[in-house]
Amino acid sequence: MSFIGRHVLIVGTGLVELAAQALEGAVIETATAETFRGRWTHGEAPELVLIEATGASVEHLAEAIAAVGRAPSPPPTLLVGAQLPVGLVRALMRLPRSDVLEAPFSTEDLAAAAAPLMSPHVTPAHDAPSRCWTVMGAVGGSGATTVAMEIACALAGRMPGPRRVCLIDLNIADGAAAAYLGAPANMLLSRASQAPERIDASLLDAFVSQAPGGIDLLASARDCHAFDTTSSEAVLRILEVACQVYDAVVVDAPRHRRAWTLDVLSGSDELLVVSELTVPALLAARSLASEIETELPDGPPPRILLNRLAKRVFGPAPSMVEAEKALQRRAVGGITSDWEAAAASANLGGPIAQHRPKSRIVKDVGDLVDKLLASPAVRGDQARVA
Ligand SMILES: Nc1ncnc2c1ncn2[C@@H]1O[C@H](COP(=O)(O)OP(=O)(O)O)[C@@H](O)[C@H]1O
Ligand SMILES: [Mg+2]
Repeated sequence: MSFIGRHVLIVGTGLVELAAQALEGAVIETATAETFRGRWTHGEAPELVLIEATGASVEHLAEAIAAVGRAPSPPPTLLVGAQLPVGLVRALMRLPRSDVLEAPFSTEDLAAAAAPLMSPHVTPAHDAPSRCWTVMGAVGGSGATTVAMEIACALAGRMPGPRRVCLIDLNIADGAAAAYLGAPANMLLSRASQAPERIDASLLDAFVSQAPGGIDLLASARDCHAFDTTSSEAVLRILEVACQVYDAVVVDAPRHRRAWTLDVLSGSDELLVVSELTVPALLAARSLASEIETELPDGPPPRILLNRLAKRVFGPAPSMVEAEKALQRRAVGGITSDWEAAAASANLGGPIAQHRPKSRIVKDVGDLVDKLLASPAVRGDQARVA
């Protein structure tokens, strides 16, 4: 594994030279056990905290470990030293990711202990299972891609730290997420389809690009044959691996049924059907939702999200109440229309949350995300209102 550019914080001073050799290319910062309070430079957590037991008191070491544990997303921590007190080791083991390295050790030993801790692919950041939220438009242009992108950014804001949230654009022939975000589209799924069993965390790594808004993106470059040349195994495997690597995965799913659609939907924890407030869109949302309920009775209940709500002053646009009547069910939420913010962000490349953080869209998406986090969908629960 390469340590180039990876951020490592060493609590202690005796190890710096050895660590610089072992973790070649890593960006190393230091602190002392006496002064370390778990605050990171620029607020960004290091990818590894190396705590040196030699030369510091047990109290200070215990305080340093506790300080790491108080971080919102505690970074992996490696405690090194000889004859480490059991109490200290037990405190360390309570961190989500940690290990101990007994002195004396070589640079190779240190690299071998650090690598699995720093690899996000091997151990999930916490024991909770990853969340997978799928977004699907009821009709074209209803705002599914926009909503998926903003949801991913809102989740990333609520889960600070690197590699927490991944947006996967499964519109593999002509997806727009990469263009909206101004990020590269590096996912080569049709090539990976030739050997889907080889799709693993390192291949995923090669496919991922970093997008503004603190999210990772899996998206394919335009390819009109992609749906014919990509196998279901490859699509499902990439999703599975992404769910192992990330805390949250948001899928922008195509509207048209593919061989893998039902598997993707049934593997999701939340399923959002995005509709706009026109009668045809509402009717399409209603049919799509009932179709999914019939086919996946034990799957996540589809929840309808109304997008581009406008203040109704004049005109025949249905209100939210009228919309729910047409849908014959409650909507999970509504997103206000803000064309200026949506267009400006797409043109600049990046989420609305970044370019127009004060837009109502950002607030509405934030409220939706909080609501979904607070009351997750119950599988097989069809919340229909007549
Ligand atoms: N809440 C909103 N307010 C204003 N414009 C929006 C909103 N949501 C989406 N849009 C715009 O609507 C258009 C279609 O959105 P898009 O996300 O591409 O839809 P879909 O993925 O369902 O085809 C885009 O121009 C987008 O910027
Ligand atoms: Mg789209």
